[in-house]
Amino acid sequence: MRKNIVAGNWKMNTTLPEGLQLAKEVNDALKGVDAKCDVIICVPFTHLASINGVIDKNRLGLGAENCADHVSGAYTGEVSAPMVASTGATYVILGHSERRQYYGETSETLKEKVKLALANGLTPIFCIGEVLEEREAGKHFEVVKTQIEDALFDLSAEDFSKLILAYEPVWAIGTGKTATDDQAQEIHAYIRSVIEGKYGKEVAENTSILYGGSCKPSNAKALFAKPDVDGGLIGGAALKADSFMGIVEAF
Ligand code: 13P
Repeated sequence: MRKNIVAGNWKMNTTLPEGLQLAKEVNDALKGVDAKCDVIICVPFTHLASINGVIDKNRLGLGAENCADHVSGAYTGEVSAPMVASTGATYVILGHSERRQYYGETSETLKEKVKLALANGLTPIFCIGEVLEEREAGKHFEVVKTQIEDALFDLSAEDFSKLILAYEPVWAIGTGKTATDDQAQEIHAYIRSVIEGKYGKEVAENTSILYGGSCKPSNAKALFAKPDVDGGLIGGAALKADSFMGIVEAF
C-alpha cells in the first residue's frame, strides 16, 4: 500500500537559527500526535546537517530541495547527491517548477539528478505540473505526461517504485488559488494511469502522489480525502509549525 505523506518545502526561507527553531517546533509537536502520515521537511542545504542533529528521524524525515546533476568536480556552488546524503538527509525535491522556471532545469538534467539521488540512497520527491496557459488550453494532461515520460521513464520498475511524485499546478503555487479537490483528483488519477501504462498496476497503486499549491489546514482535509491524493507538498504553510501541523492532522 502506498504511503500518505505531508512534506514541507521551505524554499529559500529561514536563516539557520530560524530553521533550527522551526524544525524543533515541528519535531516537538509531532511527539504529541498520532500522525496518520509520514512527515518530511525539505530545507535549505545550509540547514541540513544541523537540523539532522535535532530531530527524531523516526518521526520526521529530512530532505534537500535540489541536488546537482553531477557527482563531484569543478561545479562551483553546486551540492551533490552524496553531499546531501552525508548530512543524514534521505529525501530530495527534484524538478520543482521554480527550478524549471528560474534556473532552466530540463528533463535531461532532471534525469541525471534522479539517477544520482537514487544511487545515493535519497528518495526523490519529483515535481510535475502545468502553467496557467497550459491549463486554460486544456493541455495539462499532456504536459504532466510528457514531464513524467521524459525524465522518469527510462528508470527500471524497481527504481521508479522508490519515487514520490508531487503534482503542483504552477498557477496554484504561492497564489492562494488552490486546485479544487475534484481538479486534483482528476489529474492525480490520470498521472496514476500514465504510470500504470508503463510500469503496471502494482507500481502505479504503490506510488504516492502528493498535491502542492496553496495547500493549507482549511483545504487539506478535502484534498486528502480524494482517493488518488496521497498527501501534500507544502510551501508557505510549512513555515509555521502550527499551520504545518494543521495539515499533518488533516489525515
Ligand atoms: P505554496 O504552498 O506556498 O503554494 O507552495 C507550494 C510549493 O511550491 C511546494 O513545493
